[in-house]
Formats: sequence, structure tokens, C-alpha cells
Amino acid sequence: MTANQFELRELRRGDAERCAELERVLFPGDNPWPRDVFVVEFSHPTNFYIGAFDDDHLVAYAGLAMMGPTEDPEFEIHTIGVDPEFQRRGLGRVLMDQLMHVADSHDGPVFLEVRTDNLPAIRMYEAFGFTILATRKNYYRPSGADAYTMQRPRLSDRRDSDGSSGGSSDGSSGN
Ligand SMILES: CC(C)(COP(=O)(O)OP(=O)(O)OC[C@H]1O[C@@H](n2cnc3c(N)ncnc32)[C@H](O)[C@@H]1OP(=O)(O)O)[C@@H](O)C(=O)NCCC(=O)NCCS
Repeated sequence: MTANQFELRELRRGDAERCAELERVLFPGDNPWPRDVFVVEFSHPTNFYIGAFDDDHLVAYAGLAMMGPTEDPEFEIHTIGVDPEFQRRGLGRVLMDQLMHVADSHDGPVFLEVRTDNLPAIRMYEAFGFTILATRKNYYRPSGADAYTMQRPRLSDRRDSDGSSGGSSDGSSGN
């Protein structure tokens, strides 16, 4: 099954328990979010949460928060995860495409934190034009792992620095 054979839709309250279940598998030492946190996240009008479903079964999820003034917002990736059995089939890329489309449609920069030892995620973010801004020591709890803060410039800045491509949001450049 390829990534485009999964159904995509925005996440809602009824998906929160399955998200929490996936978090426990994907982030065991780093304070995985429980169901209630997802319920609150989904309810926030400036958050965008999307999931990929295999026959009504949620196998990947991602969330983006919009912050700051509505006329000039910034974005932050709050979470993204793919069921281990469904990784490396392009689902992370598909969900990132959706999040980046939202940010680009507002011409906003995107920020995120990622464990410095999380190479799969760092590679994926780099493919979408993120670069490392800073290292935050002891960022994750309870593991104490360090984080990189990464940033993806707003669409207009990417266009300014790369007049040829216009800064594709499909993650295909650089990889
Ligand atoms: C990071 C994650 C979401 C990627 O999801 P995925 O569906 O496996 O990713 P995709 O198949 O769409 O791959 C997208 C790109 O990510 C990178 N990537 C993914 N897995 C990788 C791995 N094991 N090693 C190196 N690069 C990897 C590659 O650049 C890949 O592009 P390519 O296939 O053209 O090489 C997934 O590994 C995951 O859920 N990890 C645990 C949760 C997590 O760490 N989330 C991020 C927290 S900041």
C-alpha cells in the first residue's frame, strides 16, 4: 500500500485515544501526551490536526499550531508520528505536505523541536527545508534528551533566496 491509498482527514475528539496510544509507542521516554491533551489540542481553533487512516484505523497523525498576529502568523509543529508498522511508506511526508501547505498559505515560518538523536525525523524536516537554529539542553522529560530547534522560513523568504524553484513545499528538494 502506498501513501496515497490512505484516507486523510482532520482529527476530532474521537481520535484522541488512538493518538495517545500511538504516542506511548513512539515517545515512551519523553512524556507521551495522554488522551486529554489531544482533546484540548483538537479543540483549539488555531490548531490544525490531520490523520491518515487505513480502513478507519488511524496510523499516522500530525498537528500544527498557528501563533501570533493573524495577519503575520508563525507556526509550530506540535507533534507528528507514524505507526511503526506503517513507517517508511511516505506517510510522514504526506502529513508534512498538509501542514506545510497551511503554513505557506499564510506565508508563515514554521518552528519545531526534535531530539538531537532522532535522525529519521531530522532528515524528513531537512527535506522540507528546515534548518537547525539552536540546541536546547535537557529539553525532554523524563529522558533529559537534548533538542534541536529547527526553522523553515516563510514562503516569500524562500522565494527571495531561491528565485528559481519558488520553494516547493513537497519536501522533494534536497533529498
Ligand atoms: C519521523 C517519522 C514521522 C517519519 O515518518 P515516515 O512515514 O516513516 O516517513 P516517510 O516514509 O514519509 O519518509 C520521509 C522522509 O523522512 C526521512 N526518513 C524517514 N525515516 C527515516 C529513517 N529511518 N532514516 C533516515 N531518514 C528517514 C527520509 O528523508 C524520508 O524521505 P525518503 O523516503 O525520500 O528517503 C516516523 O519515523 C516516526 O513516526 N517517528 C517517531 C515519532 C517521531 O520521532 N516524530 C517526530 C518528533 S519531532
